[in-house]
Amino acid sequence: MNVCLALILGLCISLSYTYENVRMKPRLTQLNPGDCTVALPNKQPNAMFYLDNPDSLYIGGEEVVYHYDFSTWKEYPIKAEKYSCRGKDFCRNFVTYVTRNDGYLMACGTNAYSPACWKLDGENFEKISSSWDGQLSPRYPGLNYNILKTGSETYSTIPKQSNNGASTKKATFRKLFGKEPLRFTGGDLLKNPLFVKSLVVEGEEEMQNRIFLFFMDDNSERRTTDKRVPMIARMCKEEKGSEKPDERYMFSTALKSRLICGNQEGQYYNFLQDIYFLESQDLIYGLFTNPWNHSAVCSYKTEDIELVFSTSDLFGSTKKDLKIRPGQCRSELTPQETAEEAGNHPELVDWIWPSKNKTVFQTLDYYRKLVVDEITVVNKEISRVIIVATDDGILHKIVEQVDGAMNVLEMKPFNNMSKILFLDLDLNNREQRVLYVGSAQEFSKVRLDDCRAYNKSCSDCVLSKDPYCGWFGGECQSILNNSTGPLHDLTSEALCEQKSETLPQRGSMSPPLTENKVLPPSVFYITCPAESKQATYWWTYGDNLMESCTPHNGKCDLIFDKIKAPGEYRCMEKEEGRKQRLVSEFKFSMENSSSRMRHSWLVALVIIPVCINIV
Ligand SMILES: *[C@@H]1O[C@H](CO)[C@@H](O)[C@H](O)[C@H]1NC(C)=O
Ligand SMILES: *[C@@H]1O[C@H](CO)[C@@H](O)[C@H](O)[C@H]1NC(C)=O
Ligand SMILES: *[C@@H]1O[C@H](CO)[C@@H](O)[C@H](O)[C@H]1NC(C)=O
Repeated sequence: MNVCLALILGLCISLSYTYENVRMKPRLTQLNPGDCTVALPNKQPNAMFYLDNPDSLYIGGEEVVYHYDFSTWKEYPIKAEKYSCRGKDFCRNFVTYVTRNDGYLMACGTNAYSPACWKLDGENFEKISSSWDGQLSPRYPGLNYNILKTGSETYSTIPKQSNNGASTKKATFRKLFGKEPLRFTGGDLLKNPLFVKSLVVEGEEEMQNRIFLFFMDDNSERRTTDKRVPMIARMCKEEKGSEKPDERYMFSTALKSRLICGNQEGQYYNFLQDIYFLESQDLIYGLFTNPWNHSAVCSYKTEDIELVFSTSDLFGSTKKDLKIRPGQCRSELTPQETAEEAGNHPELVDWIWPSKNKTVFQTLDYYRKLVVDEITVVNKEISRVIIVATDDGILHKIVEQVDGAMNVLEMKPFNNMSKILFLDLDLNNREQRVLYVGSAQEFSKVRLDDCRAYNKSCSDCVLSKDPYCGWFGGECQSILNNSTGPLHDLTSEALCEQKSETLPQRGSMSPPLTENKVLPPSVFYITCPAESKQATYWWTYGDNLMESCTPHNGKCDLIFDKIKAPGEYRCMEKEEGRKQRLVSEFKFSMENSSSRMRHSWLVALVIIPVCINIV
């Protein structure tokens, strides 16, 4: 009995899981969507990308900075000062940081285990000497760290090097330059952190500006059995420091909490991969994975995060009668006992739960990076689009919908499948939406409002659920440069029919038959384009169901030995939100006079032209 129940339950769970996953499979695939995909002058496994402006890209590599203005490449060599590390693995200058600083272009690199920075002066990079130059690049590539550049200020987690290169110091997050004082985090805030991202959330007044730091850390409070957990630390950017003079330079407002992303059953995705801040909506998106490398995305409203930080008790703290709560952003010095309490017990009792207390989506795929865009569509409704990247250079475009997310498109921007090292959106261009993608070998500019993948019919365009695309003047087009068009016409398949769309139909409008004679011993099959990974396909013979099919490589084949009798064979498609339809049709008849009658067929072939090749 128990076994039965477990079986049935298992079945139900796996069924509901499968259902959810159908929508998380990329519906269509588009190869080489990039308007511009270029190869780097040389392969750079540790490439660092810096987009100075939409037409000017810098890439840091091994002893070089490349500049690309979207027509030509230029190379600036930057050698290490000296190579007193011969024989060691990274005895070169790996440029790991390029940015524009005070109007000049700056590059920082490992400088053969002795990090340094250079400034572009005319055609050459000249070495800079300053108090902070060793803290903008790690000693060798591949180390974990985080740099936050905000306005004219820069923060870093890279420790200052001692002479022998050993850094025994505790992990800290500190301001390197900008308005003084150059504050840093102290105490127990960071234990054994793996940094993921840092960002500034602006308040109504400058005093309310906060820094959020996202990282993985040891689960030292041991409130659950997880060894490592995703954390968020929050501090007041403009705080005045503690009343205690010898702690004046430390952040006295820094607190942290655990970031939760998971389902209601308490299954959490505990590895934080990436964070994206959708500033216009005050929403922070987090990409998480679990030990099986399945992914989930959660979003957090900054005001919800703020509420937790301003109401929760501190874990392990017993003082309840502090005049000033720890973590408040004030324009006065933090009272000593408040600062001490924050320093001794920086972790909140309450956790940060995602918006609506659920994931935006969960999937079996393993994603490593994300960016999020929003676009105003029909009736001024805002639609959010999440772009996630896998480890092997594939992008998925996932639309957040009221009834759950949907994976609308898979894009392969590179010629060589390779890990995506850089993913960013151009937010300033309102005419088109551009995504920049970089790998160790290639760089690509991908138009998010490219609608060619759905340009077959009005209903294909509408069914794509791609919020950037609409049906105008007989074509599936970007709605960004068609903003004056009839937006309300875009979203309903019914409207397509009103406009008497000519979807291919059987009957009088059938295209002329072409006849093919097929002779043995050729292996023969008929094939049906099965483009949508979210649809089901099956073959019929006459009016009868023959077999359902599982597409391979976007096709559904019916092989010769199943085609037993003359007649009509059809491939049908059904997809959620759309009527069942005919995709392709074949007509077979016997050739009477042939001596090889058993194998010789006359094939009348009608492929309904619903498929435009998007490759
Ligand atoms: C998850 O991905 C990482 C990095 O690619 C890999 O090392 C690990 O073996 C994967 N784990 C599983 C369970 O597939
Ligand atoms: C979210 O759900 C969890 C588990 O069901 C619960 O403990 C928690 O209080 C909820 N949080 C919010 C903010 O609703
Ligand atoms: C792709 O990789 C191959 C082999 O590694 C290399 O020969 C080729 O140049 C690469 N193509 C591009 C565009 O990087």
